[in-house]
Amino acid sequence: MKGRTAILSFLFISVFIVAVTILSQNKTYSQTTPAKADTCTTSECHANMGKDKFVHGPVMAGECTACHGESPKHKDSPSKNKFGAIKDIEKLCYSCHDKFKVKKFIHVPVASGECTACHSPHGSPYKFQLLAEGAKLCFNCHDEKLASGKFVHGPVAVGGCVACHEPHVADNEKNLKAKGPALCFSCHADMAEKFQKAKVKHKPVAENCTNCHNPHSNLKEFMLSDAAPALCFKCHKEKKEWVEKAATQHGALMTGKSCLNCHNPHASDIAKRLSMAPMDLCLSCHDKQIKANDGKLLTNMKKLFAENPDHHGPIKQKDCSGCHDPHGSGHFRILRGNYPETFYKSFDLGIYNLCFSCHEKTLVQTPETTKLTNFRNGEMNLHFKHVNKLEKGRTCRACHETHASKHPKHIRDSVLFGGWELPLNFQKTDTGGSCAPGCHKLKKYDRVKKEQNL
Ligand code: HEC
Ligand code: HEC
Ligand code: HEC
Ligand code: HEC
Ligand code: HEC
Ligand code: HEC
Ligand code: HEC
Ligand code: HEC
Ligand code: HEC
Ligand code: HEC
Ligand code: HEC
Ligand code: HEC
Ligand code: HEC
Repeated sequence: MKGRTAILSFLFISVFIVAVTILSQNKTYSQTTPAKADTCTTSECHANMGKDKFVHGPVMAGECTACHGESPKHKDSPSKNKFGAIKDIEKLCYSCHDKFKVKKFIHVPVASGECTACHSPHGSPYKFQLLAEGAKLCFNCHDEKLASGKFVHGPVAVGGCVACHEPHVADNEKNLKAKGPALCFSCHADMAEKFQKAKVKHKPVAENCTNCHNPHSNLKEFMLSDAAPALCFKCHKEKKEWVEKAATQHGALMTGKSCLNCHNPHASDIAKRLSMAPMDLCLSCHDKQIKANDGKLLTNMKKLFAENPDHHGPIKQKDCSGCHDPHGSGHFRILRGNYPETFYKSFDLGIYNLCFSCHEKTLVQTPETTKLTNFRNGEMNLHFKHVNKLEKGRTCRACHETHASKHPKHIRDSVLFGGWELPLNFQKTDTGGSCAPGCHKLKKYDRVKKEQNL
């Protein structure tokens, strides 16, 4: 009898233990927050474990042992509880997570298996159980200076380092999500479209935006290291030299946005990446009188062209740069070649090399001609006669406007002679013409019927 009771009570106790065990186990796995007296987290021990905003999956499930292993002393005395040390953290993480694909660039702490340098194995206030939020995580190891320039890039300012960098492994250098302009265009989509469509692209832009922009922050607006012209001179060394040694400098480089007054830094549809058609560009500033560096009040060119219908060839072609170097030059009025500033000048072919870079120099070299110029009386070359003199050679300006005039062959109304506006009174005929200038009485020339007054 005694034996039966013993067996029954043994069975009863066994069933009870099994039931309790099962019940308690069910409880363990159905609970979302682990606060179980029979596991590692109690009000005395690891009380805060699992209470973070973001809790790691196995911690949530109370599976401390999945990582720490069974503690041999736990049952006897929790105070003597001793977890086995975790030796290979990376291996541990990879025992549940897929191993990162091997890519060309591996972030150093990932390569060295320090997953817990960024992630808490248990939980944290931040998504993915990260140890800190946004840039703060990265600045645990990287220099914060990177984002402390005066002008900070939008995504950097809000800690979006991983918008551009892969935290673990990447196909591109510096763990970037994409290479070169593609990275930037992934957000700057409007610019991508414009750039791809543009006809004239700046080479360093097509190569890498970071040739000019710091992706994080910088001293100058738009995260540039320098403003123009210094920015441009970093690569355009010859231009720097040219601009600095030019005896006549152009105000356009000194005012406003300097080089960017005329050039788009990225791309445009116009040759040399001008921001407007070349002549419109010049007239966008020269549509008013401007004070030159030498003190002269410069002509309002837009008005001049509107009021004087006979435009010089290169102006008809809308090419101001044929005669002027917009970047400054060694000649007065930023001209590309010599051209006398005065009414008289003793003749030397070289002083007219601006005009003769396009026109035939024989115009002023041959005393007699039947074809080199229409400015002749019979065969007498009147260009030669006026210009080609050692004493008081008349310069082209004595008779011609350089830009535009009201008369054919852009003969002037008048010319400044000392302080006097000397009138020319030019009349053209089919075979010649006449002048009654302040220089001499009315004189006529005729190519067919040689005039005798000369
Ligand atoms: C995913 C694996 C994993 C799980 C699950 C896990 N731990 Fe840990 N635990 C670690 C690792 C790894 C470390 C060592 C951290 C280090 O070296 O940076 C650690 C360290 C600890 C430490 C040492 C102090 C500290 O916070 O770093 C305690 C205590 C601890 N764990 C308790 C627990 C308890 C309690 C649970 C269950 C509620 C648990 N762990 C679940 C991986 C885990
Ligand atoms: C015992 C298995 C196990 C181990 C070991 C383990 N994890 Fe996890 N981990 C999980 C589970 C389960 C989840 C939750 C998955 C889910 O929610 O999709 C998770 C989620 C995560 C997440 C969040 C992922 C997400 O998409 O929200 C991160 C980050 C993470 N683990 C990192 C680690 C790191 C780092 C280690 C090594 C210290 C590690 N894990 C070890 C099982 C494990
Ligand atoms: C330098 C810090 C850093 C290190 C080291 C690091 N991680 Fe991460 N991890 C992150 C960041 C940041 C994110 C969030 C990425 C995001 O927001 O897109 C992340 C996300 C994750 C995720 C969830 C999203 C995903 O990419 O699947 C897992 C899982 C993960 N890490 C596992 C690991 C493991 C495993 C290791 C170690 C081999 C590791 N991490 C090392 C910073 C790190
Ligand atoms: C635990 C320290 C640590 C954390 C946290 C960390 N890094 Fe790193 N990172 C390194 C180390 C070490 C290197 C390699 C040495 C170096 O170039 O500075 C590196 C290299 C890099 C590089 C490549 C540098 C190069 O010259 O090739 C980038 C980019 C980078 N980390 C970005 C990040 C970003 C973004 C974060 C935040 C999501 C981050 N790191 C968080 C330690 C860290
Ligand atoms: C808009 C994209 C972008 C963002 C956002 C960004 N980076 Fe970078 N990062 C880059 C590029 C591009 C490079 C490569 C620069 C180069 O090659 O000159 C780089 C390089 C780096 C380097 C290598 C050292 C260096 O200066 O060349 C580190 C470290 C780095 N970034 C960390 C960070 C951290 C930390 C953050 C967040 C505060 C961050 N990055 C945010 C694009 C970005
Ligand atoms: C993750 C998205 C993202 C990526 C990638 C990105 N940017 Fe940005 N960028 C922004 C945002 C957002 C702004 C702020 C927009 C604003 O203020 O109008 C910005 C602003 C700028 C500005 C200043 C514009 C202004 O008007 O002040 C420049 C310059 C710039 N980015 C250049 C770059 C370059 C160069 C890259 C590639 C290295 C790049 N961005 C990659 C999101 C991005
Ligand atoms: C040769 C130097 C240089 C390169 C390379 C360069 N930029 Fe710029 N970028 C500038 C300058 C200069 C400005 C300022 C323009 C201004 O002041 O009008 C600027 C302005 C910007 C702006 C703000 C104003 C605007 O036009 O929207 C953005 C965005 C920008 N750049 C993006 C890029 C991207 C993306 C790339 C690569 C595809 C790139 N940049 C390459 C010189 C450069
Ligand atoms: C990182 C170097 C670099 C910087 C900075 C730079 N450039 Fe350039 N630039 C180049 C290169 C390279 C070319 C192409 C030259 C070639 O094709 O022979 C070029 C071409 C040009 C051209 C067209 C020349 C032609 O013959 O078609 C102009 C105009 C120009 N750059 C203006 C500028 C301006 C304005 C700036 C400042 C906002 C600037 N560049 C900044 C490298 C640079
Ligand atoms: C007033 C308008 C204007 C300004 C300001 C200007 N440019 Fe130009 N640039 C032009 C024009 C027009 C051309 C094309 C005519 C030519 O070939 O000279 C040109 C051509 C160029 C070229 C290619 C041909 C050559 O001459 O080498 C480069 C490079 C250049 N500019 C760089 C610069 C730089 C750098 C700056 C600032 C220091 C600058 N430009 C300022 C109007 C300007
Ligand atoms: C951004 C405004 C601006 C643009 C665009 C501009 N200029 Fe000027 N220009 C000036 C200013 C200001 C001066 C007066 C300062 C000076 O003497 O250089 C000037 C002076 C001149 C002078 C007299 C230079 C002297 O000092 O003798 C000539 C000639 C000239 N510009 C021609 C041009 C031509 C040709 C273009 C087109 C390629 C052009 N400009 C575009 C602003 C501009
Ligand atoms: C055929 C050569 C040539 C062309 C083309 C040319 N210029 Fe001139 N430009 C000159 C000469 C020569 C002078 C000096 C005139 C003088 O002092 O008599 C001058 C002077 C100027 C001056 C100073 C005017 C003053 O009042 O002293 C400006 C401004 C000017 N040019 C702008 C332009 C603009 C804008 C264009 C294009 C629409 C242009 N030029 C096209 C040859 C030219
Ligand atoms: C960049 C080239 C270029 C330069 C420099 C140049 N010209 Fe011209 N010139 C032309 C062209 C083109 C014509 C138009 C020819 C035609 O229509 O047959 C022209 C026409 C003329 C005409 C009128 C011819 C006619 O038949 O209507 C005169 C006068 C003239 N130029 C004088 C000058 C003077 C004076 C200079 C020096 C200040 C000069 N040119 C510099 C290109 C130039
Ligand atoms: C004394 C006045 C005068 C001077 C000085 C003068 N020209 Fe002329 N030029 C004329 C006249 C008048 C015509 C128109 C002839 C005709 O068609 O009947 C003319 C015509 C021209 C033509 C059109 C082609 C031709 O020969 O018929 C060119 C080109 C020209 N001149 C260039 C120059 C140059 C360059 C200089 C300076 C080296 C210069 N001229 C100096 C009066 C002058």
